[in-house]
Amino acid sequence: MFITFEGIEGSGKSTQITKLAEHLRTQGKGVATTFEPGGHALGKALRAMLLDPANKDLSPRAELFLYLADRAQHLAQVVRPALNEDIVVLCDRFADSTTAYQGYGRGVDLGELRAVNAMAVDGLWPDLTLLLDLPPDVGLKRAFSRNIADGTAATEGRFEAESLAFHTRVREGYLALAALNKDRFRIVDASRPPDEVFGDVRLIVDKYLAG
Ligand code: TYD
Repeated sequence: MFITFEGIEGSGKSTQITKLAEHLRTQGKGVATTFEPGGHALGKALRAMLLDPANKDLSPRAELFLYLADRAQHLAQVVRPALNEDIVVLCDRFADSTTAYQGYGRGVDLGELRAVNAMAVDGLWPDLTLLLDLPPDVGLKRAFSRNIADGTAATEGRFEAESLAFHTRVREGYLALAALNKDRFRIVDASRPPDEVFGDVRLIVDKYLAG
């Protein structure tokens, strides 16, 4: 079973993934948690390249192909092998991030993007996608305070430095994707405290697993 978590910066994906992994493990399930970009051995360099603010001149298409290369390798090296062993894979961001950020955010043509995204995914779409939805101003505030707590400069990270308008387009992109893919998307209100959000996440996943 392949579950992806999506949402703008500061939506709390990694906290929810940690909680869900713990919950599923207490039910005796094998669980692997992973992330994009960079969730595989070769991914560290790609992640650094993609997120380094010094690379602000990276063209939208070059950026797109780096994310797709990262995804193709991540699938081959991490996700598919785990799914073949019947392990539940919880992934922080996947192909929907590319549509939301490179498509709705950067303005890459959505039709072209659909084709290349499908090529990278190679038929392996998530069973379930949890969209942690919240207003971008709330998410960005959270992301900045997290960066300060981490000792990372508030302006560090190419995407955190993008405008509120950019993140608003990304959020709208996610909501459009959720409306188009109702079978696998579930929208969760992520503006609430983490435990409340997790209450919904757990219910959704338990219900899905119960069939
Ligand atoms: P990360 O630090 O993992 O952010 P977050 O904690 O919000 O998930 O950085 C990942 C960034 O990469 C994030 O800003 C979204 C962006 N991204 C894309 O633009 N396209 C993609 O296909 C993926 C996977 C991520």
